[in-house]
Amino acid sequence: MKIAITGAAGQIGYALIPLLLERFKVPMELSLVDLPDKLTQLRGLEMEIEDFCYPHLKKVESGSDEATLFQGADVVIFLGAKPRGPGMERNDLITVNAATFLRQGKILAETANPHVKALVVGNPANTNALMLIRGGNYKLKNQIQALMRLDQNRAKSAMELSFGPRKEIYVFGNHSPTILVHQALPEVLEFVRKRGAEVIKARGVSSQASAAKAIVDHLEDWISKEERTYSAAIYSEKNPYGIDEDLVFSFPFSNKKGILKLPLSQEEKQMLQITEDEMKKERQIACTILFSN
Ligand SMILES: NC(=O)c1ccc[n+]([C@@H]2O[C@H](COP(=O)([O-])OP(=O)(O)OC[C@H]3O[C@@H](n4cnc5c(N)ncnc54)[C@H](O)[C@@H]3O)[C@@H](O)[C@H]2O)c1
Repeated sequence: MKIAITGAAGQIGYALIPLLLERFKVPMELSLVDLPDKLTQLRGLEMEIEDFCYPHLKKVESGSDEATLFQGADVVIFLGAKPRGPGMERNDLITVNAATFLRQGKILAETANPHVKALVVGNPANTNALMLIRGGNYKLKNQIQALMRLDQNRAKSAMELSFGPRKEIYVFGNHSPTILVHQALPEVLEFVRKRGAEVIKARGVSSQASAAKAIVDHLEDWISKEERTYSAAIYSEKNPYGIDEDLVFSFPFSNKKGILKLPLSQEEKQMLQITEDEMKKERQIACTILFSN
């Protein structure tokens, strides 16, 4: 299995790679991608990976040229995204990343294995994933998902701490404070919506180890030969909830059957509308890039 990772020199990359190697004990090749000014750090990471001494790791390479590094990839994990800097408006953040993901989407569609599975983590993850789909001219629309598993894991963990073991908990919508947690108590919904900001407040940086764990959970379910159900932001075409058909929206998802239809309360339907409206606005801002050149 060849896995390419963009933004690999960053914090999540560092936490993710040992977890990937531990969770997927199959012959593996790793291709690490980051910006040209991170190549020395990437080389250091490559050295550490070699020093893990995993017999199933067949090859590790790194660089900044996506076309070379995505070549034949079975899985591509997109961690690389520009963070919001001082004085930067949220709209600028969306458009800067939209340009990157449109460009990478074209390269992905041209170079990766035709059966590639691509998981977008870099924020704004849902809109970046939509741009990745558009960049590849919709060719990979059903093979690109955005990470919602961290939100699902946060919700499940919070519910279990209060009420004991639960079956799956699903989240809907955007990876943002408008997210909807299905059948959650108001305090659990509030908890999930604020958790990312709470981690940043306490650690000074965004979630990294828990994000890395969520990525391997997501991938394991997605590629499993058995049926698995989980929350994933996927291309919204033909969804049974009446959500706009050109978004990357989180739904309960089966890796064998696609989107699952669950009954929603009136209040949940209203919350769904709010998160959908937010994503439509993000899409509109992201798309200004298409008409600005
Ligand atoms: N979806 C989620 O649940 C979730 C959870 C946590 C973090 N995140 C997001 O994941 C992303 C990565 O987090 P991190 O803590 O590793 O950040 P980080 O800043 O430590 O690392 C990001 C890396 O991406 C690289 N990068 C930036 N633009 C790139 C590009 N165009 N091509 C290749 N590499 C590029 C940077 O050089 C850097 O090494 C952030 O956008 C963060 O907000 C998402």
